[in-house]
Amino acid sequence: MSLNGNRDVYRERRRRLMDAMGAGAVAIVPSAPVAVRSGDVEFVYRQDNDFYYLTGFEEQESLALIAPDNSDGEFVMFVRPRDKERETWTGKRAGIEGAIVDYGADKAYTLDELEKIVPRYLEKADRLHYPIGRNSDFEARVMKLVQYSSAMRPRLGSGPYAIFDPREIIHEMRLRKEPGELDLMRRAIDISRAAHERAMRLARGGMREWQIEAEVDYTFRSRGAAGPSYPSIIASGPNAAILHHIQNRREMRTGELLLIDAGCEFDFYASDVTRTFPIGARFTAMQTELYEIVLAAQARAIEQVRPGARFDDPHDAALRVLVDGMRGLGLVSGSSEEIIEQASYRRYYMHRTSHWLGMDVHDVGLYRAGGESRRLEPGMVLTVEPGLYIDADDDTAPVEMRGVGIRIEDDVLVTADGHEVMTAAIPKQITEIEALTVAS
Ligand code: GLY
Ligand code: MN
Ligand code: MN
Repeated sequence: MSLNGNRDVYRERRRRLMDAMGAGAVAIVPSAPVAVRSGDVEFVYRQDNDFYYLTGFEEQESLALIAPDNSDGEFVMFVRPRDKERETWTGKRAGIEGAIVDYGADKAYTLDELEKIVPRYLEKADRLHYPIGRNSDFEARVMKLVQYSSAMRPRLGSGPYAIFDPREIIHEMRLRKEPGELDLMRRAIDISRAAHERAMRLARGGMREWQIEAEVDYTFRSRGAAGPSYPSIIASGPNAAILHHIQNRREMRTGELLLIDAGCEFDFYASDVTRTFPIGARFTAMQTELYEIVLAAQARAIEQVRPGARFDDPHDAALRVLVDGMRGLGLVSGSSEEIIEQASYRRYYMHRTSHWLGMDVHDVGLYRAGGESRRLEPGMVLTVEPGLYIDADDDTAPVEMRGVGIRIEDDVLVTADGHEVMTAAIPKQITEIEALTVAS
């Protein structure tokens, strides 16, 4: 548990979940399954965000049961037992006592007691909230207990008759960030700032993309981040026009553009930042022309971010600037309306401009409500990341522009009266960037 080391934060979230579920409901939230990397080697365990958001508990093979108004306890945890020998191999466990004392469970049991304990709660409930498909190991066990408790309903007059997805409630909560969550996102962003600045300073012709990836990873880990919150994209020259280029093997050349999309995860919170800069050089005239189009598109998009604006407004604003720029460069022809209507811009801008950001890099929460683009509210965080990508093999584009890819991505918080660019300190103006790329 590390969000300010504060148990009350998690208790308050469970309280809000319970209020939204209402009396007569029980939620069961599983931890993330363990994932095998290869052979008998597992991936480093990473807790499920919804589970962590409600409990602060990082251990695998655990499960939370939340039962509003239940006199036996509203928060019950199932955890791995203490086991001296196992703990010698794989590390300390909280156990039953830790779940109660350190994590605030009203009751705690070991997992092998699931079949004995859970029916007691289900039999008193009408509705179960359970995230189907999240952890298949637990699901078979939980569903069997649901069947059993449902079968008791005619005789008891209670027992679950409906299963809801608790993510509908939890994800709306996660979408609006608490001050403590924003603090952690700022910590993540500051570490990502250091990584991007270091990359701008160190990238030189003759290096391989992976060397820059190593510098980014080094900065993340040496400053206390868990690591990247998604595979880092280190895309030099024509690789920048490949949106998810993560092989990072190419030898870079001086003066080419390097697109770095890399953000660290700090204490379960993601950052997501892209910067594009010339390797060990100043921007050429052509690079400047393209870069300034993307920069202007991003500025126009960010201006749209305020309470009451539609989620799609930043995208629509960026698109208008990008399309005008593409027309000016001779990449597309026709009126702006036609280009947007026919989506001919997609050859050069094929992704959306924004997504939610939080514990997940593509964070949870609905983008549409009532059939419309959702309205922004204070506390929501979204990326704004327009780009312009000209494939190396695009023989309709001017030769000197082929194989150029540019994206600029910032993380933007919706505030009470507008927005705050949380990543504002990470250089993106041409003069700021050149001060790093050509400094000795
Ligand atoms: N880094 C993933 C994204 O920008 O959406
Ligand atoms: Mn992004
Ligand atoms: Mn990104």
